[in-house]
Amino acid sequence: MSLSTNHPAPACNADYPIRQSEEHRVTRRQFAKFTCCSALAFGAVALSKDKLFPPPIAKEPMRVASQSELKVGGYKLFNYPTANQPCILIRLSETEFAAYSQSCTHLQCPVHYQHEAKKFYCPCHEGFFSADDGRVLAGPPPRPLPRYPVEIRGQEIWVLPAPAKTAQA
Ligand code: FES
Repeated sequence: MSLSTNHPAPACNADYPIRQSEEHRVTRRQFAKFTCCSALAFGAVALSKDKLFPPPIAKEPMRVASQSELKVGGYKLFNYPTANQPCILIRLSETEFAAYSQSCTHLQCPVHYQHEAKKFYCPCHEGFFSADDGRVLAGPPPRPLPRYPVEIRGQEIWVLPAPAKTAQA
């Protein structure tokens, strides 16, 4: 006994004209929709990262260096407010010091101080920040470098908790 291949098509095929072999095929439209949705979701997570995982807030002042340790144009690296957050203390002039986060606001590469240009340079994607106030001068960084207030106590240089308003995003 053999089965005939000339059976009439079931009535439901008229309502759902999709062959079984095509059920798992991804159309260009579906792929574009998936790609757009994924990109939107990724963008939303990236934008809200700081809201979901806010950086630790400094609470205590910290002694970073003595004045004699830094010549004009010199710098000292330190971590603040936690051991995982690199910062940089720079000496802009005989009487002027400034402290910034050393993490670029683009993708967190460490920035380098260039005293002659009074700039911070991020070698990862050619980002530049002003050493005067941390503002972005060039490149992809979206926000200024976070700046910490500095206080000179006798010969000692201290970094204070409250971020300076000029460098806040
Ligand atoms: S990580 Fe600094 S410019 Fe991209």
